[in-house]
Amino acid sequence: MKGPFGFFIHPLNYNDLYRVMPELVNKRPDFIEGILKWIDPFVAAEIELKTKTNDTVFGMFIVIPLLAKQFIEDEKLAVSKLIKASNLAIKLGTKILGLGAFTSIVGRAGLTLVNLFKERLYFTSGASYTVASSLEVVDYNLNQMNLNKKDLVVSVIGATGAIGKAISNLIYRDYKKIYLVARNKSRLNALKNEITINDPYFNKENILITNNISEATKVSDVVIVATSSPNELINVNDLKYNSIVCDISMPHNVSKEVIEKRKDVIVIEGGIIRLPSIPTFRKLFNNISFEDIIGYPKNNVLACMAETIILTAENIKENYSIGRNIDSNKIIKIKELADKHGFSVENVFLKK
Ligand SMILES: NC(=O)c1ccc[n+]([C@@H]2O[C@H](COP(=O)([O-])OP(=O)(O)OC[C@H]3O[C@@H](n4cnc5c(N)ncnc54)[C@H](OP(=O)(O)O)[C@@H]3O)[C@@H](O)[C@H]2O)c1
Repeated sequence: MKGPFGFFIHPLNYNDLYRVMPELVNKRPDFIEGILKWIDPFVAAEIELKTKTNDTVFGMFIVIPLLAKQFIEDEKLAVSKLIKASNLAIKLGTKILGLGAFTSIVGRAGLTLVNLFKERLYFTSGASYTVASSLEVVDYNLNQMNLNKKDLVVSVIGATGAIGKAISNLIYRDYKKIYLVARNKSRLNALKNEITINDPYFNKENILITNNISEATKVSDVVIVATSSPNELINVNDLKYNSIVCDISMPHNVSKEVIEKRKDVIVIEGGIIRLPSIPTFRKLFNNISFEDIIGYPKNNVLACMAETIILTAENIKENYSIGRNIDSNKIIKIKELADKHGFSVENVFLKK
């Protein structure tokens, strides 16, 4: 048996919370948020599964009781909960900890925890496998439509973040033109400079930067979204006719109206992974199903969870995807290990 690993999860929004605690539906939001601040991290489920190589992996899901918006509004509180949760993970005997959703965004993208828990715990945000699997699912859809990337314009929204930067660096050469999009212009400039310094013969005019999302998305055939905003950022009139959008952000940034009204546009979820076997679960919080805790069918998990399981199966004791400069060799390696253990990418269309 390999493990146990720990994986941090949290409710992204009120819908997530109501799914696991329906008794909260009629309570006031300020009351709910106030209560969440006082609850300590706890284990919400245990998981066990076999990989293709016949390794049995065991892990625990540890809840950080805060909504995505609370991670952004009060980073100090969020980091203090992550420290408590890491200490709990040590008591439970875990060595490898995966940082799900906004737990990898606060605390300098995991670096604060890495420095505090040196040698006692190893962390990953799961960004390497998220990048590899999201690019795979985009390519799959482009191939299905017989489209050639060299004829297409791509936008990366959240281009200066851990995931966005790795993706931008991997794809800028493949497309006709790339828009790098985020709010902070100086970080966008720095990214453009980094690309052009590393690749001096590449035509700079094919890399455009903007902090106006719709300016980029309205002319893009492919839009890849990976921001740390908990809000809907891409609206119904922002997209080019027949475009493909891959929304990696959790919670998603593509608006519900896009899904309802833009039947010409394909919106896929990035980083959804099919497990190599159906897992067994124990100690489920409130006796609810794992599907309700995670929000996906039993055999599907997010790439960040899959990366944590794969690292555990391989007994890799190192901080893997941490910080905002993801190593491209690690992206290649995790994809190879995913194939070895029978993890595969799921093509999931975003629902309302
Ligand atoms: N599917 C999975 O398995 C998986 C795995 C890991 C992460 N994720 C999700 O992926 C997303 C990105 O994660 P990350 O680790 O790359 O985050 P990150 O390193 O914090 O980067 C966030 C990026 O978003 C930009 N941004 C934030 N607010 C924005 C706004 N309102 N408009 C435009 N750009 C904005 C930031 O730049 P500025 O601040 O300059 O705007 C930055 O470029 C998160 O939602 C995370 O939960 C999914």
